Formats: sequence, structure tokens, C-alpha cells
Amino acid sequence: MPVDGEVLIFRNVRAKDPACELDAVVDVVVEEGRVSRVGVDASESLKPELLAEQRRAVVIDASNRWLLPAFVDLHAHLREPGHEYKEDVHSGLRAAAAGGYAHVCVMPNTNPVNDTRSVTELMLRRAREFNGPRLHPIGAITVGQRGEQLTEMADLRDAGAIGVSDDGVCVMNSQVMRRALEYAANFDMPVIQHCEDHDLTQGADMHEGEVSSRLGLRGWPRVAEDVILARDVLLAEYTGARYHAAHLSTQGAVRIMQEAKSRGISATAEVTPHHLLLTDEAVIGYQTACKVNPPLRERGDVDALVNALADGVIDAVATDHAPHSSLEKDCEFSAASPGLIGLELCFGLLLGLTDTSRLSLNRLIDALSTAPAKIAGIAPPSLQVGSAAELVLVDPEATWEFDPRHAHSKSHNTPFSGKPLKGRVDMTVAAGRVVFQRTPS
Ligand code: DOR
Repeated sequence: MPVDGEVLIFRNVRAKDPACELDAVVDVVVEEGRVSRVGVDASESLKPELLAEQRRAVVIDASNRWLLPAFVDLHAHLREPGHEYKEDVHSGLRAAAAGGYAHVCVMPNTNPVNDTRSVTELMLRRAREFNGPRLHPIGAITVGQRGEQLTEMADLRDAGAIGVSDDGVCVMNSQVMRRALEYAANFDMPVIQHCEDHDLTQGADMHEGEVSSRLGLRGWPRVAEDVILARDVLLAEYTGARYHAAHLSTQGAVRIMQEAKSRGISATAEVTPHHLLLTDEAVIGYQTACKVNPPLRERGDVDALVNALADGVIDAVATDHAPHSSLEKDCEFSAASPGLIGLELCFGLLLGLTDTSRLSLNRLIDALSTAPAKIAGIAPPSLQVGSAAELVLVDPEATWEFDPRHAHSKSHNTPFSGKPLKGRVDMTVAAGRVVFQRTPS
């Protein structure tokens, strides 16, 4: 695998970066961790220099491949500290590299919860050891994610947190949420909400609808998401703070975001691949792999989410990568933990949507890379000359299946195993070096 200091040349690659209006078949050269040349004869013009300086170049024949800005995940659970048997920072970042990610924002529902500087620092130290995609901790909004007392956000920020969230639980108390927004605004950090009115979802296992009735499972109504999102958008307007809604799942939430954006409120939102692809019908047969929070909804919701992503009403795709072991999944539906993995699958799951829906390829690239980077306050990966080399090489025509035996993640909880996927990551460059290269099968 090429290492630092070497020259990396992608020959004849279709370079696509909507943020700098680039879409052309060119050579792209990476030198000293930066994109140094982009152009039809970039590698030819470099040859005399390489010869004169006796530098080694690694040349990748990238015909029929696309080179994109590397992806940024706003929402992953890497389970360290506390649940390393499901995932740890190293295995999570390995999975991220294989999925094309250069940056991963990591939720604080670890054990102990990331509500103090020491946990934030531990995550960052583990990521530095790995030396791959960059990890960005998200600190908790409230101590222990209990929804009562605000964390020392200044301290979390100083230690490296890029935002705050109690993801997994919702900040139910409006006064606590208001203060959280006001406090976080001092540091320009987004407050990331898991929108769920817990009083409306007590004991719920799946979306409330016809399927939950047929299966005899307690339902999680859409309104439990909508009511919190509506309140929060009003609080974001009132405080002027940066608000971000995690994993939206309902058509009502789309309407609320649409209005918030049209009124210029600083609210952003993300959607997961599974909410863009699956309905509650996937749960039939008590499929614990499809138990997730918020739950899979109905066709009308899925269509509204895809259209909202296409229109930019939903800004970003986030995986909500939530690893669980067979202990938490191979059990009765009500006892199963919610969540599914996503880092290695996301691109292969979503590229097909650009053929079957209004979602354009440019918007998808933006939603996987530039838009989430801006929300997280990270410099967006870019193909522009001079940018840090954070790139993903994909084969858009490859059809493949996710095989858990070859997974990089420690957990395999996905309903998409063995299903045909289109579009595969061949190589990821992050932190100026190749952090993933697919071995030919
Ligand atoms: O399905 C989910 N799983 N939703 C969440 O909000 C939390 C996550 C987890 O940590 O497993």
C-alpha cells in the first residue's frame, strides 16, 4: 500500500466534485498528502520531474472509475469505551475506511458516556493510534445522557468534540434544550437531537401502523418524532443556535424542515440509508436486523425522505452505524437492541437511488461529503488542487454483496447481507495516505 512521501497518480479517472464544478476524465496526482495536479496530461507533465528527482510514483489505472471527495459520516456508534465486543475505535475506523470515509463523527452513548473530557480524549487517542480516517467525538448534551444537567461543553470542545448530542435518547425537557442551544452557541457547536417524545413511544418496538398491528408489536407513532422536531426548530429560531436533527424518518419531519429552511432558521438534518430504502414491511417475520430507532416507516415516508434529500431539505446522509452482536440481535424481537451497521454499505446501498429516484449524483456526493463536513465544522474534502488528499475511488458499475465474513466491523447486524449492491469503494485516501485498498477477489 502506498505510504506517505510517495506520489500517487490516478490515471484516466472520472473526477467528480460538485463543490468545484469538476466532472471530467483526467489524471489526478497526490503529492505529500495533497492534491497537486488535476488535468488530462497531469501525469505526463510530472514524468520529467519524477525522473530528475528519482521519486517513486504509484500509478493506479483508474479507467471506468470515479474519484470523489471522501465521505464524512455525521453519526456513528463506535462503542468504545464500554462495548468493545461490538466495535472499538480501530475496527470502526477500519470499517469507515472500507466505506470511503475520511471523517467519522462518533456518538457519545458509550459506557461511560462521553460527557467528560477524559472520554473524548480516550477516543481521540485510540484514533491517533489507528492513523486512518479522522474521528471527531460528539460530546453528550447532558450528564449521563439523563436529560437534566448540561455537560461542560467548553471542556468537551477544548478536548476536541465537534458537537453535542444525547443520541439514543431525546432531550425531552424544553428548558434544558433551550439552555443547551444557548450554551453550545458560544462555541458554534451544533446541538444534535434524537427526536423522540419518549412518553409517546413507551414500550414501542416498531413503527405504529398496520404492520405493527398484524405483528402484535407496540407502535412508535410518527408524531413522537414530529412533535420534538417542531419544538426544537422553534427553540433554534428563538436562540439563534445551530440545531441538527439526527436520523429523520417521517413525512411530517420533512414538512417541518422545509418550513424551517424557508424561514432561514439554522436547522439542518440527516437521513440514514435504511430509512431511504426500507419500509416497516421489512420487519415482517420479526426480523431483528430491521429493528432500529427511529423505526422503519411506510412507503409515503420513504418517498418523502428521498425527495427531501434530493431537494436539499435534508442536508446529509448519515449512517447511524450501530453495531450489535448476536447476543443483542438473535433473540425475541422485543428484547433485541435497535440499530444496524452502515459504514461499509452506505455507498453501495445509495448509488442505485440516483437511477431510480429524483436524487442526482451530484446531490448524493454533496450529501455524503461536503454537506456533512460543513455541519460538523470540518474542512470539506475536495478535489481542488492544494486540498488535503481525502479521496474515494469507486467502481460505479461493480455489483457485489456484503459478506459478513469479510466485514471490517466487528458486528454484522444488517438486513442487507447477501443483497445485490451497486457501486463499490475500491480505495480511500484519508489524512494524506491510502487507508483502504480493495484486494482483488
Ligand atoms: O437504532 C438505534 N441505535 N438508534 C439510536 O438512536 C441508537 C443506536 C445505538 O446506539 O444502538
